[in-house]
Amino acid sequence: MIIIEDNFLSEKSFRGLQDYCKQEFRIERAGAGDQWKEFLVLDTPPDIQSQLWLEDHEIIFSFIRKAHAGFDTDPRIHSDGIIMNKYVDVASVLYINENEGVSRNGTAFYDHAFFGEKLPKDVKPELYNDVLKDSNVTELWQQTDKVYAKPNRLLSYPANYFHAKFPAKIETGERIVLVTFYSEING
Ligand SMILES: [Fe+2]
Repeated sequence: MIIIEDNFLSEKSFRGLQDYCKQEFRIERAGAGDQWKEFLVLDTPPDIQSQLWLEDHEIIFSFIRKAHAGFDTDPRIHSDGIIMNKYVDVASVLYINENEGVSRNGTAFYDHAFFGEKLPKDVKPELYNDVLKDSNVTELWQQTDKVYAKPNRLLSYPANYFHAKFPAKIETGERIVLVTFYSEING
């Protein structure tokens, strides 16, 4: 189920997070198989991470990602079922940038021509990597849902749902999101 929660952090925490994101981001490579790409990232501050707590889950990984004109421009439709060799149950996106001055953006969900809306939870890593190869082949995907970014909005979804940021290319300004991956405890 896709869940949207507005005004997720307190005003004070959220402004602090926006200020934190004014520093320079570092470039990191991420991916799997032969599908590697570069992202601009920052670590999630511990005081923010502690507020992203989710009942019966543990956080596997959390980071802040920035996309702008000429950087991070692929459609990259994917699921987050496996991160750092661990099965992920839930993913969340906290939208950080103000809407003003930034291409209207958000997160879109897709059906894959063969698998439908999601990958099986216990997908083998080989198959997961195979589907990643389709991530920029737009003919194989049908958009089903779209969530618009809004400052301090938290979007959560089952990590095996296929999704991508939209638009693929941010033409104006910078799209900044905080992404978190959770695993069920004893799941
Ligand atoms: Fe994702």
